[in-house]
Amino acid sequence: MHSVAEAHPNIALVKYWGKRDARLNLPFRGSIAVTVAPLRARTAVTVHRSLDADQVLLHGSPADARFAGRVQAFLDLVREQAGRDERAVVETESDIPMAAGLAGSSAGFAALALAATRAYGLDPGEDALSRLARRGSGSACRSIHGGFVEWKPGKEPGGSDSLAIPLEPPDHWDIAIVIAVVNDGRKQISSREAMARTVGTSPLYPAWLRRVDIDLPLVRRAIRDRDLRLMGPVIERNCLAMFATMWTADPPILYWQHGTVEVMEAVRRLRARGVGAWFTIDAGPNVKVLCEGADRERVRGALSRVPGVRSTLTCRVGGAARRIPGEGMAVSGAG
Ligand code: PMV
Repeated sequence: MHSVAEAHPNIALVKYWGKRDARLNLPFRGSIAVTVAPLRARTAVTVHRSLDADQVLLHGSPADARFAGRVQAFLDLVREQAGRDERAVVETESDIPMAAGLAGSSAGFAALALAATRAYGLDPGEDALSRLARRGSGSACRSIHGGFVEWKPGKEPGGSDSLAIPLEPPDHWDIAIVIAVVNDGRKQISSREAMARTVGTSPLYPAWLRRVDIDLPLVRRAIRDRDLRLMGPVIERNCLAMFATMWTADPPILYWQHGTVEVMEAVRRLRARGVGAWFTIDAGPNVKVLCEGADRERVRGALSRVPGVRSTLTCRVGGAARRIPGEGMAVSGAG
């Protein structure tokens, strides 16, 4: 009746951008991501027989209606699977700024999937958990696993074959992910809405799908061979192609800010000085920079000196989502 779980966010190297089924979060194409620690979301779910409605708390206070609504809809899916109808209290704590393009929903829904299934007496395997997390937020299906992860798009209309599989464990490759925070405020347009508008209106959308078909096998190979010089240019062009579809949507979607471009220029300067660093950006203004673990301090130092950068977070490859024994809810800050 009570369960606590935590999960790390994941950052896509080949992006998920566009759904063939919006209700089931089924993508047109696969995607590949890396799970990042120490950032994490921790969620406790307590099922109560006496409650009339679900209660959703974020950092100890009632969550806004949008967030609470998404959590309640997700609990309905879990209740349906469990054949139960009691309401629950959901408490979430996260050290990831919400809706800032920092993949907070990937960690949040992966942790919720794990905690809620257990609290309602289910014990799904990893595949079923990944399929379920996908219903909360597409990218959450990848945060069930640690390390390097691929989301297989699947072909079935009901989504039974659309789930994430692990490619390599966290200790396979010591890379660092330095996040340059340009703005951690809430974005104006959700990735859900941006994806739908792009698919519906951008003349570049078909070109994006071709880009992904070319980039997926290259990034798979780069991960297998720990080849950052192969992977780096591919992840940059993949993310820029995704943004090209947004700029050409109607009306256009612009997530970048001044600082976003400044960080991209700083990454190019690092490369000109011989440091292997490449960027990727999600649906927001913040930039994630990948480098070999040995270069993390040099990269972090360079990014923290960029005028538009408010803070930097240095991350490593993280582990799988996991249940936390006991009641603990404290979430420590990221280093
Ligand atoms: O899972 P969502 O609906 O928040 O979408 C994530 C979209 C991107 O972060 C831009 C790309 C990705 O693959 O994570």
